[in-house]
Amino acid sequence: MASLEITIYPNPILAKKAEAVGDVTPGIKELMPQMVFAMQENDGIGLAAPQVNVSKRIIVIQDGEEVKTYINPRIIHKSREKHLDEEGCLSLPGIFFDVRRPSSIEVEVQTPEGKLVKIKAEGLTARILQHEIDHLEGKLIINRIPFWRRWKLREQLQELKNYAIR
Ligand code: CO
Repeated sequence: MASLEITIYPNPILAKKAEAVGDVTPGIKELMPQMVFAMQENDGIGLAAPQVNVSKRIIVIQDGEEVKTYINPRIIHKSREKHLDEEGCLSLPGIFFDVRRPSSIEVEVQTPEGKLVKIKAEGLTARILQHEIDHLEGKLIINRIPFWRRWKLREQLQELKNYAIR
């Protein structure tokens, strides 16, 4: 399988709200395993469709030993308790910093088979899910930190921008 190319910041598709998936078309059926492949090829633990240049609400995540594919994921509950932990993003190569997020969540998703299920997640899985669902809203981890911390990253972000226009 040829690996799909990962879209890198500041590609505008990463800032766009992704479209809900209606029918699981043959194209989407084909896309889902390709996303899993691209995630694994790039040593990622999660990937959202906009990161492979498809503005649709599909994510894949590494959940322990298993890989899960979710369509139209929606957070229906967030814990009041939050946790700070380091995150990176395949679309922001070389950039890692702490992000504060609710430590446990409940998510409603559609499975690739078309079932609507509710999932409770905590720890790393909750973090990955929130990170990937953020992608579907056009949000990156740099949009989740205070301005002064983003300012500290300005040189690294500028490098990515320079790379994009080359
Ligand atoms: Co990401």
